[in-house]
Amino acid sequence: MYDISGSDSSLCEMKSWSDQNEEEKVTSICQNVKQYFVFTEEELNVFEAHVDDIVRNAESGAYKNSTVDRTPLRNKYFFGEGYTYGSQMQEKGPGMERLYPIGSVDPIPSWIQEILIKPLIKANVIPENFVNSIAINDYQPGGCIVSHIDPPHIFDRPIVSLSLFSDSALCFGCKFYFKPIRCSKPVLKLDLPRGVVTTLSDFAANEITHCVRPQDVQSRRAVIVLRRVLPFAPRLSESNTSLVNTTINSYSDPLRILDQLSGRLFMKFYKTYSKNYKHKTTFGGVLKHYCIKKNTPKSYSD
Ligand code: SIN
Ligand code: MN
Repeated sequence: MYDISGSDSSLCEMKSWSDQNEEEKVTSICQNVKQYFVFTEEELNVFEAHVDDIVRNAESGAYKNSTVDRTPLRNKYFFGEGYTYGSQMQEKGPGMERLYPIGSVDPIPSWIQEILIKPLIKANVIPENFVNSIAINDYQPGGCIVSHIDPPHIFDRPIVSLSLFSDSALCFGCKFYFKPIRCSKPVLKLDLPRGVVTTLSDFAANEITHCVRPQDVQSRRAVIVLRRVLPFAPRLSESNTSLVNTTINSYSDPLRILDQLSGRLFMKFYKTYSKNYKHKTTFGGVLKHYCIKKNTPKSYSD
């Protein structure tokens, strides 16, 4: 396990690794993760106040049903676009995620556009008109998100996030086990201090899973995930939406079959595409370098 941290250092030193495979993975992750500090303390406080407003709005029932997903230790809010994932999926497994029908979730709040997205464009973190989908995860202490790859048939790369309220960490390459929940040692643990903007692309986004472990959420934490939904990402039709929460067996539903086929086609296309074409990062602008430090197993509680 490696640790990326120390944003004030621009040196990258690497341990000599016995496991070359592991080393290659770490290198590939590091090459495809960028971290930026774009916002002041005051701006972070404003973002956090807005997130609290969203929580209150959701509690008072001000949002559409698909905007809000509540679980005991992690609430999720979608704006602009939302999609089926985890247990909501009719057909489970990678490639089966579907966008909700257009208009099913609330629009992106204007403050996100004005005081979050615009400065990120100005800082060259994201190109103009990139973000059309926001997800906010609000974690209670001990909350987590299990290992996953953001569905590549739904979302363009990079995956961009802003961490709020408290420090945490993103782990790559963990295997999760349940009852009780626990996970294997990560290939790499990336610090996510409050206020950091993190982008994942190529290998870090597509070839290795990421997660937030329960032990890395010591106090309430939220993340604002900014993504671009692909123009031809498969979407539930209105008629299919109604099937999401029913037990109707609709394997013979032609719309559903079409929907599944399109998802698989997207995955096939995406895999070929990502092998043959390496994304160029046209919007560089790295404000902070990250540093690979020696493994520090004692500070690690796995
Ligand atoms: C995610 O991968 O959806 C969230 C990651 C985070 O909480 O930083
Ligand atoms: Mn993710």
